[in-house]
Amino acid sequence: MLSLTGKAPFYAAILLFVMTALTLYARTHRPSNSARSGSTTEGTIIYDPGAPTFHLPAQALVSSNIPFLNHSTPKPFQSYLQQTLDYTHFSDLFAAINATVGTLQTRGEAHVTVVTPPEFDRALKPAGVTIKEIEEIALRNNIQKARLMPVCLGRFNGTLPNPSKAESDKGAFILFSLVVADVYGDLVNIRREVFKLYRSKGGQGALFQPEGFWPHITIGFDRRDLFIEDGLYKGSNYCYAPIRTSK
Ligand SMILES: *[C@@H]1O[C@H](CO)[C@@H](O)[C@H](O)[C@H]1NC(C)=O
Ligand SMILES: *[C@@H]1O[C@H](CO)[C@@H](O)[C@H](O)[C@H]1NC(C)=O
Ligand SMILES: *[C@@H]1O[C@H](CO)[C@@H](O)[C@H](O)[C@H]1NC(C)=O
Repeated sequence: MLSLTGKAPFYAAILLFVMTALTLYARTHRPSNSARSGSTTEGTIIYDPGAPTFHLPAQALVSSNIPFLNHSTPKPFQSYLQQTLDYTHFSDLFAAINATVGTLQTRGEAHVTVVTPPEFDRALKPAGVTIKEIEEIALRNNIQKARLMPVCLGRFNGTLPNPSKAESDKGAFILFSLVVADVYGDLVNIRREVFKLYRSKGGQGALFQPEGFWPHITIGFDRRDLFIEDGLYKGSNYCYAPIRTSK
């Protein structure tokens, strides 16, 4: 009969194996800080039945060689921060979508808004954060090199949940956007730095949520673009059709 002491190395080896496996599992399954942003990488994707698959060149989301564009017009809702992309890579996607709709317009440019005009006008600016300071944070963090992954094509087709009294808010709207994931947190980290500056200037924490961020690229709309202020959340919840990237 083997003594217990004789079996100890065997049990120790098993224990070590289990602990190593658990550590590795915890590491690979721990949601990193970065991936938690905007929940696009964690949310459930439900495509519309019968939605076609759309295509996008792989380089469409690489913007490291595109110059930073500032938007700092000192007028209401004209100051914001964006990562600029090259629209030429998106024009085929726009055409493919419009071929199924027929009424879409495009702005002929592509970008990811990182700090929105309402965020700037309603929270950041009143606390004394300038657009120049925001741009400095963005440039220091290489905003144009932010790494994006495609999630899906998002679509809204319906009436606004909270229309203003204006005639222009009545009736149905159609909007398509490419939902993207800020997989490494490059963009949310810029927002977190902006938040720190905002708080250091006495800004109310409740009015600016750095992780309240659903990165996307507006592709086309029939009447106008629609925003979170219109009641639209553009995370993976917004998915309509799959996107496949190709060389
Ligand atoms: C912002 O961009 C304009 C051109 O669009 C440029 O003339 C100006 O110098 C830029 N401002 C800053 C602060 O980078
Ligand atoms: C939008 O919804 C309307 C009403 O349900 C439908 O008739 C129309 O085909 C839809 N358009 C698109 C582009 O899905
Ligand atoms: C969208 O499709 C319609 C119908 O084919 C076409 O007339 C229109 O020019 C297209 N829009 C754009 C911006 O290309």
